[in-house]
Amino acid sequence: AEIYLNGLAGERPALSTDPARLEAAARSVLDDGPFGYVAGGAGGGATMRANRAAFDRYGMVPRMLRDTTERDWSTTLLGTAMPAPLLLAPIGVMSIVHPDGELAVARAGAELGVPMVLSTASSHTIEEVAAASGDAPRWYQLYWPTEDAVTVSILERARAAGHQVLVVTLDTWTLGWRPHDLDLSYLPFLRGVGTAIPFSDPAFRAGLAAPPEEDLMAAVGRWVPMFTGAAVRWDRLDLLREHWDGPIVLKGVQHVDDALHALEAGMDGIVVSNHGGRQVDRAIGSLDALPGIVAAVDGRAAVLFDSGIRSGADAAVALALGADAVLLGRPYVYGLALGGQDGVRHVLRSVLAELDLTLALSGFADLAQLRGAKDAVRDAAK
Ligand code: FNR
Repeated sequence: AEIYLNGLAGERPALSTDPARLEAAARSVLDDGPFGYVAGGAGGGATMRANRAAFDRYGMVPRMLRDTTERDWSTTLLGTAMPAPLLLAPIGVMSIVHPDGELAVARAGAELGVPMVLSTASSHTIEEVAAASGDAPRWYQLYWPTEDAVTVSILERARAAGHQVLVVTLDTWTLGWRPHDLDLSYLPFLRGVGTAIPFSDPAFRAGLAAPPEEDLMAAVGRWVPMFTGAAVRWDRLDLLREHWDGPIVLKGVQHVDDALHALEAGMDGIVVSNHGGRQVDRAIGSLDALPGIVAAVDGRAAVLFDSGIRSGADAAVALALGADAVLLGRPYVYGLALGGQDGVRHVLRSVLAELDLTLALSGFADLAQLRGAKDAVRDAAK
């Protein structure tokens, strides 16, 4: 209501509430390298376009004269209570867009109770980001190292720092073909490389002759094969179970059979995601994978969704299609670039407010009603 009334009163928000204008503003303050890293996708960008095209096909079917004046979007997912089914997607090396990087994101998330999924490629240490989160809930995303000692060290630190859920990213066992990064390079903009994970990890540093601050190229030489591995295999998930006693979620699922594999492997959830179109070019839109996977999983594990969400209305559609929660990606990074912690908070509040209005005006007052509804959303192509 505050955003709305200020807007009507002619008081312009410091940052736009429109996702496209926000992205344009971020482009104007960032160097080409960091902007290209965030905004860019794999190859010619066909998967990114497919992500948006899928959203453009689905539409809510609003219902009238239902009392939705009192609303409650709160939910508990895998033991984590949240005010709405929204999390901050794991995003790496955020200090390239703002010096506070992940710390600002953690603080903004904590202010609103929106859980952050901290990336293995964070530019601040696990412990620093956890401290910035205070007592807010937090999840940890793993890029799975090829050396088990490094995996175990990272998992133990994440658990000790209070992370409740482990999100294992499957789709990035090597980086996709990303022309933006190959042409423009963003790493020179990374601040404080010694605090970045895994450069800060004791097990990673143990394999180096000199600390990364003194010999960056040697550290990079250890880092690349560490995260370009065949460690990610179905039969190796046991290692993670052994060293993580909380729920485990697999991120990057697009095929129904992989979702079923995750169930067989005893996983607690999956994220239907194509990494925001950054890995495989000419892949399907992530939203097109969602309905089939929701039907196949049939409530036996949590199904989260990301890739292509730009607004609260987009989030509403993914939830109406059966996602238990959604992850917000690039939009909050633009908020970070433009306004640090305040910018991230602004984007989160905008998305939450629009999600609330979209669902309320569609006739829903809580998630149970949305889940039970038939035809809450329709595919225009069918
Ligand atoms: C990502 N993503 C990502 N995922 C992950 O598991 N670990 C990571 O470190 C990163 N890093 C990262 C950096 C940047 C700049 C982007 C844009 C994305 C993927 C992310 O978690 C999420 O899947 C996508 O951002 C969703 O797509 P949209 O909504 O941003 O289009």
